[in-house]
Amino acid sequence: MKPIISIKNLVKQYSYYKKQPGLLGSIKSLFHREKLYVEAVKGISFEIQPGEFVGFVGPNGAGKTTTLKMLSGILYPTSGDVDVLNHKPFEREPEFQKQFALVMGQKNQLWWDLPAIESFLLNKAIYEIPDALFKKNLDELSELLDIKDILDVQVRKLSLGQRMKCELVAALLHSPKVLFLDEPTIGLDVISQNAIREFLKAYNKEKGATIILTSHYMQDIRRLCDRVIIIDHGQLLYDGTYDALHTQYSDSKTVEFTLANRVDAKEIEVFGKILSQKDRTFSIKIPREKTAEITGKILEKFQVDDIVIHERDIEEIIEEIFTDKKMRD
Ligand SMILES: Nc1ncnc2c1ncn2[C@@H]1O[C@H](COP(=O)(O)OP(=O)(O)OP(=O)(O)O)[C@@H](O)[C@H]1O
Ligand SMILES: [Mg+2]
Repeated sequence: MKPIISIKNLVKQYSYYKKQPGLLGSIKSLFHREKLYVEAVKGISFEIQPGEFVGFVGPNGAGKTTTLKMLSGILYPTSGDVDVLNHKPFEREPEFQKQFALVMGQKNQLWWDLPAIESFLLNKAIYEIPDALFKKNLDELSELLDIKDILDVQVRKLSLGQRMKCELVAALLHSPKVLFLDEPTIGLDVISQNAIREFLKAYNKEKGATIILTSHYMQDIRRLCDRVIIIDHGQLLYDGTYDALHTQYSDSKTVEFTLANRVDAKEIEVFGKILSQKDRTFSIKIPREKTAEITGKILEKFQVDDIVIHERDIEEIIEEIFTDKKMRD
């Protein structure tokens, strides 16, 4: 199948002028300005097939937003190829604009002083959405996101979660095939995060939309994305399935158990590194291949009230990938 998104050796260099501090600095810089460059994206390549839900992960400043902006045509790449839906995004052809959407959790695209419905109607005009389709999509989306009764409320009066839901509706009214989501759950409470996750999951499944999602909440990635792309300092560190990420990097598991009686930590240490201890509850790291053997020994030696074996969290794994890289650099 031909990929719906494809980038090859994509590079983005930002240039800006160094400003000397203070008023004198400002005056000096009128005559002599020193130009500085940052390479935010340093040659990234990947291909995404129709219908994929990809998690795009990396620490602050990794180049995620810059990449999404190049994919949606807001930024012109310094070099490399970018192809989305058979278009060069930076050419901003109307035919392309009608087929994708970009939602940024940190930016408000709705009119602040107007009710959300007014912004929706504006999008209807911009994207030339036929009446029947507009009505159908609006009904469906506002039902799914449970915002029917707030469509007439001024956006500035909405809660963050309600506003984010309205942002999503605004972005999806024209039935885009490709969706770029830049931290859509940022700052939301757990319930709203879940509501948005469930919605995105269903949207991807039912409409077959292709989605790239960036998030610092690993729950988002874990629940939604089969595939994960990890970048750091503008470079690709990992591209593969979520599951492979686990097996590749996780040669250990975590065993958490609560003992019936108080036991000295020294007696536990022999089984594995203690990650945490709270009263009679211990969490230890053990080699994957010794899971059965070690848990058996613990159960044999102590009276155990409760025992759980976990795969390691993706947070831990990603942190390990970044630390490994730093040590190699
Ligand atoms: N307009 C700009 N001018 C100059 N440098 C920029 C500009 N926008 C971003 N940068 C720099 O480019 C790098 C990548 O930024 P980007 O916003 O893409 O990171 P990010 O992965 O989205 O980070 P975060 O997780 O914090 O959102 C950073 O070093 C940032 O300071
Ligand atoms: Mg960003």
